[in-house]
Amino acid sequence: MSAGFDLREQTAIVTGGARGIGKVTAARFAEAGATVFLVDADAEAVEAAAREVGAIARVADVTDTEQVEAVVAAAIEETGRIDVLFNNAGLLRDKVLWKISDEDWDLVVDVSLGGTFRFTRACVPHFRARGYGRVINVTSYTGLHGNIGQAAYGAAKAGVIGFTNTAAKELARFGVTVNAISPNAMTRMIESIPPAHREELEAQIPIGRWGEPGEIAGTVLFLASPEAAYITGTVLRVDGGIAI
Ligand SMILES: NC(=O)c1ccc[n+]([C@@H]2O[C@H](COP(=O)([O-])OP(=O)(O)OC[C@H]3O[C@@H](n4cnc5c(N)ncnc54)[C@H](O)[C@@H]3O)[C@@H](O)[C@H]2O)c1
Repeated sequence: MSAGFDLREQTAIVTGGARGIGKVTAARFAEAGATVFLVDADAEAVEAAAREVGAIARVADVTDTEQVEAVVAAAIEETGRIDVLFNNAGLLRDKVLWKISDEDWDLVVDVSLGGTFRFTRACVPHFRARGYGRVINVTSYTGLHGNIGQAAYGAAKAGVIGFTNTAAKELARFGVTVNAISPNAMTRMIESIPPAHREELEAQIPIGRWGEPGEIAGTVLFLASPEAAYITGTVLRVDGGIAI
C-alpha cells in the first residue's frame, strides 16, 4: 500500500499516462492496490509505461468521444467499476497569441479542457449508479496567472477550473468529488520550454527548484482516496510556491 492510502479493489483511469506526472501517479495508484487503466494517444509509449508500472494500456485520444467512451466501457466491463478518474492529458503549442493558428488553439483547448469534459461525462452515469467517484483534473500556473506564449493553454487550464467548480456542484449529490491540482514538475513538457524562459520561471519558484513528478503524485493519490471525502471544488497547488 502506498503512503497509507488504500485503493485496493478500486479501478482508476489515468489519461496522458505514457510519461511524466501521469505515469508516476499511475504507479502510485497501482502500489495502493488499484487496477489502473493507463490512457494515452502515444501507443508505443503507453504500452511500455503500462508494463513498467503494472497498469493496463489503452491507446486513446482524449479529443475523440468514441475512443473515450470505449475506454470507460472497457474499464467497467473488465473490472465492474471505476472509482478514480485522473484527467491529466495535456500539451503545449506555445506562441504569442497573434501567431496562434486556429488548429493549435483548437488542439490545446480540446486536449486539456475537452478531454477533461469527455472523460468526466463518460464516467458520470457509472459514478451516479454507484454513488461514488473521485475526479482529479489538472490546471496550471498559466491557468491561474497567465504566461507569455500560452494564451491557448492558459484559456484551457482556466477553463478546467471553471469546469471543476461546476462539476463539483453538480456531482456532489452523487457522492462524487471533483478537484484540480496545479502542478510544477520537471517533465518533457517543461523541458520543451525554451531554456531562457524556463530559467526565468524557475527563478520565481520560492522552493528554488522544479518539482519531481513523484512529488505531484502523492497529492493526486490523496485526492483520489476515500480520505479526501470532504474536499471538492478545490484547486490544490503543488508547485513549490510559484503561484503565491
Ligand atoms: N509539468 C508541469 O510542471 C506542469 C505544470 C502545469 C500543468 N501541467 C499539466 O500536467 C499534465 C501532465 O503534464 P506532464 O508535464 O506530465 O506532460 P507530458 O508531456 O510529460 O505528458 C503529457 C501526456 O499527455 C499525452 N497526450 C497529449 N495529448 C493527448 C491526447 N489527445 N490524448 C491522449 N493523451 C494525450 C502525451 O502523449 C503525454 O504522454 C498536463 O495536463 C499538463 O498540462 C504540468
